[in-house]
Amino acid sequence: MPLKQVQNFRYAKCMPIPPIVYAEIVGWGKCLPPAILTNSDLATFLETSDAWIERRTGITQRCITHVPVSELAYVAAARALASARLDALDVDLVVLGSCTGDEHMPNTASRVQRLLGARNAGALDVNTACTSFMYALSVGSSLIRTHAVRNALVIGADALSRYMDWDNRGPSILFGDGAGAVVLRASSEPVGIIGEVLGCNADDRDMLRIRGLGAAYANCGVTLGTTIWDFDGPEIFRQAVRCMVNASHSVMQKSGTVSSAVDLVIPHQANLRIIESVAKRLGLSDAKIFTNVQRHGNLSSASIPVAISEAIEEGQLRPGALVLFPAFGGGLTWSAHVIKWGKNVVPYGSTDIALPPSPRSGIEIVMDLRRKKGQSPHSVFP
Ligand code: ACO
Repeated sequence: MPLKQVQNFRYAKCMPIPPIVYAEIVGWGKCLPPAILTNSDLATFLETSDAWIERRTGITQRCITHVPVSELAYVAAARALASARLDALDVDLVVLGSCTGDEHMPNTASRVQRLLGARNAGALDVNTACTSFMYALSVGSSLIRTHAVRNALVIGADALSRYMDWDNRGPSILFGDGAGAVVLRASSEPVGIIGEVLGCNADDRDMLRIRGLGAAYANCGVTLGTTIWDFDGPEIFRQAVRCMVNASHSVMQKSGTVSSAVDLVIPHQANLRIIESVAKRLGLSDAKIFTNVQRHGNLSSASIPVAISEAIEEGQLRPGALVLFPAFGGGLTWSAHVIKWGKNVVPYGSTDIALPPSPRSGIEIVMDLRRKKGQSPHSVFP
């Protein structure tokens, strides 16, 4: 038999083409640390005011963590598993999106895997700064669609307070700490990601940079234990709007989605004015845009997964909804996803897993971080 026929025979008889599968979001959870830092707290040591921050960003307060980022991720992940009623031993993959993981080696996803007892899961970290959760969602969904895994836990968690340049009023007013997670499961229904675009304006990567976070600290003009933010706020603002709008147009074109068919937009929550500009340029009414930046600030990788949980809690995400997720972050990375939600918007279960109480208030933690800056080694967590 000629080789071609042998190959055809093998494909036809012995190696059936696997059925197409989709990656459905079947569980969700969030974890926000209890210590709150208000705009007025910031104004006690920065030349700023509650009114200025709220007017220019929409933000009124943010959470500051008293535990490592892996523990925020663990609690959010445990809640997502409970909501999907999936046993930790049945998780095939843990993908953690974060730019502030506890350590670079071993990775932070492996600590989350161990805390959960998800012994049968592979574990990997994805770092694209604020877009990390969306990139991680692409990774987890792709591995389901290629039949490598049956289900995946995808987490976005960040604790930028730990690396904040607290005396720089550009970035220090913007960020909060937290984690969010979703459970993806293989489905024969056409749900989950139906279109995605991922990109990076690397020529402008120095526009948003944390010097001192990573092994290159010695070449960055900082001493070990110190972090200095390079941060061109107004230019990042312009690029964020342009990239989120362009990425949204391309993902809608790629997936054959007209903007009138979009039921809800859950954008990365960096600044209310960025979100309003994106919505205006996309011609979408405010009623379709979910925002929570007012109470959490920019949660970096946790921004979108926390927003998913809260959109469900508030009844804004309905069964079968078509949801657009534009995102932007350091790198300068950008992305947009169109997701067809499945039937489920009611959690199957819950858990009492929670963070320990914080022994200190938000302003006390921040004052401690400011005092200890540059004094290495030091411990931030009690
Ligand atoms: N408090 C009080 N005044 C301030 C503050 C502050 N925290 N920051 C700046 N100002 C002053 C400036 O000195 C300036 O004063 P001047 O007019 O006397 O010179 C004035 O306010 C305007 O400053 P701008 O920097 O132009 O203010 P802008 O409206 O651009 O707001 C901000 C600054 C909030 C940082 C905005 O540019 C922004 O949100 N950029 C996006 C940054 C971002 O979100 N990055 C995160 C990662 S990427 C992402 O997630 C999208």
